[in-house]
Amino acid sequence: MAPVYQGAVLDSMFTARDPVYHKSLKSSVAQIFSMTNMKNFEVYADECTQIFMEAMLTLEGQPVDFSMWLQWYAFDVIGAITFQRRFGFTEQRRDVDDMIGKIDIGLQYVKIVGQLPFLIPLLQKGLMSRSFQRLNLLPDTFDRFMKVLITAFAYSLAGSDTTAISLRAMIYYIVKNQHVYDKIQREIDEADRNKQLSKFITYEECLKLPQATMKEAMRLHPGVGFPLERFTPPEGAEICGYRLPGQTNVSISAPVIHYITDIYGEDADSFRPERWLEASPEALKAMERYFLAVSNATQALIT
Ligand code: HEM
Repeated sequence: MAPVYQGAVLDSMFTARDPVYHKSLKSSVAQIFSMTNMKNFEVYADECTQIFMEAMLTLEGQPVDFSMWLQWYAFDVIGAITFQRRFGFTEQRRDVDDMIGKIDIGLQYVKIVGQLPFLIPLLQKGLMSRSFQRLNLLPDTFDRFMKVLITAFAYSLAGSDTTAISLRAMIYYIVKNQHVYDKIQREIDEADRNKQLSKFITYEECLKLPQATMKEAMRLHPGVGFPLERFTPPEGAEICGYRLPGQTNVSISAPVIHYITDIYGEDADSFRPERWLEASPEALKAMERYFLAVSNATQALIT
């Protein structure tokens, strides 16, 4: 998934395999992604939600492709957070600059070459480098520019489609399960009432079922279906009783793990958000540990 420029792979946090380099990339943004700071981004999401809600009201009674709308919404939120500017999908009600279309093509490519990496040199030769060369930038500004570009590109790619898929899954399962729909509606109304009564109550404290519903939807339909790959360290590793040599590519797949009945219960293939609220502390610990929608891949692989 890393672009190539003049034969060199331009790694982002997504693609870097060297643990030291990966850690340095990660620590440079760790503060930005802290929960405290994430809350500062809510204003950007709120703006997008406002536009989305107004559009839905004007379209009331008409058929809409809701999955498309959720994707436009997710892209606008991530655009607003990453660039402090919306891409404008929900306002323009279209795929601006064919961005979603292009990312789709990119993901089709990644899906195939990710599993058949010997195709990469054949397919990639000259493709990325030509488009970057056209930028014709001065060498000293280029390095910095590329780092910013790659990071922004990685976030836009990593954040938008995954968020759109997760929102779609959540809405799909709520609409398909009337009793969950009704319970969530009641819980939200109740939270609004409590919030009006006490400024000390947070929405997080009240909205347990919507949280559990989000998790359950992401369990049944995780946003990343690709195998989550890792390479064993140079000295090799023992995994599930097998001794593997160094640099062996091992992976784990969220859609497979999420349906294991020993972890999620006999009804693991059913949508039942309540399982997250009813589980014993030990059972919940295992459910969280193997919940790979936003990845715990390394931990899950070695246990
Ligand atoms: C519901 C939404 C999301 C889902 C389902 C999701 C899913 C994932 C998964 C499964 C991985 C791990 C891949 C692996 O372990 O091999 C991952 C990593 C990553 N995601 Fe997300 N993601 C979401 C939202 C976002 C957002 C909003 C951003 C940034 C704006 C983002 C940025 C990243 C980055 C930078 C990594 C690499 C982290 C690392 O290597 O340590 N993701 N995501």
